[in-house]
Amino acid sequence: MLKVDKLCKSFGQTQVLREVSFSMEKGSCLAIIGSSGSGKTTLLRCLNFLEQPDSGTITLAGDTLFDGALRQKTTEKETRKKRLHFGLVFQNFNLFPQYTALQNVTLAPTLLEKGRDKNEICEMGMRLLKQVGLENRMDNYPHQLSGGQQQRVAIARALALEPDILCFDEPTSALDPELTGEVLKVIRSLRQQNMTMIVVTHEIRFAREVADYVIFMDDGVIVEEGTPQQVIDAPRQERTVRFLERYME
Ligand SMILES: Nc1ncnc2c1ncn2[C@@H]1O[C@H](COP(=O)(O)OP(=O)(O)OP(=O)(O)O)[C@@H](O)[C@H]1O
Ligand SMILES: [Mg+2]
Repeated sequence: MLKVDKLCKSFGQTQVLREVSFSMEKGSCLAIIGSSGSGKTTLLRCLNFLEQPDSGTITLAGDTLFDGALRQKTTEKETRKKRLHFGLVFQNFNLFPQYTALQNVTLAPTLLEKGRDKNEICEMGMRLLKQVGLENRMDNYPHQLSGGQQQRVAIARALALEPDILCFDEPTSALDPELTGEVLKVIRSLRQQNMTMIVVTHEIRFAREVADYVIFMDDGVIVEEGTPQQVIDAPRQERTVRFLERYME
């Protein structure tokens, strides 16, 4: 489904991604763990075309979305189209404060699919909010919602554009501990529906439970990867062991 090959990205003198390569199957869940500053967010931003990699390739279902060797100049319109393959749920929800929960979900489909029936989009929005357990909150504005509820609206909003791959960047790290459960529950249910997902997370226990495959990153490189049993339960690399020890404390 997704193949990333030798992806590199620097900001000025700082090399943030150094030849990052991995691939994932359709319907699988990939967890990315790693210490602060290791390049996890940058990797997700590159996949979502919010950041342009310096080199490497990104291939989705046989379709080359990015090839650093080509140095092609992509138009804003092309980039926007590529971006639609991926959905991104941010750490801080990033909802539009002036819109209700339902409007947050329906806004992008309304703008992008001009020909589509408004009622149909509205029904889809209500269905998605119901799916994340917010059927009673559709007309609330973000400031009237808890962090966990806002994050669930953000997930429904990302799903509304029917991405091939849904990416989460530490979806629970801005939440009080008692609210993380409801968000993890939604991610778990998406997992059961075979949504293809990449989850950057500090919740090591959750990663072990939900992911098919785990990547541990440090300083812009993939240090270790494999099944959760391999990487989390029986890490072979010194850096992975040290990282996990710190997080298990
Ligand atoms: N736009 C930018 N300009 C300059 N440096 C940046 C930029 N974005 C990220 N960096 C740097 O790239 C490195 C990796 O950052 P990144 O946000 O990808 O790490 P991360 O693994 O997501 O960390 P965290 O766990 O704290 O979220 C950091 O050293 C950061 O300062
Ligand atoms: Mg980050």
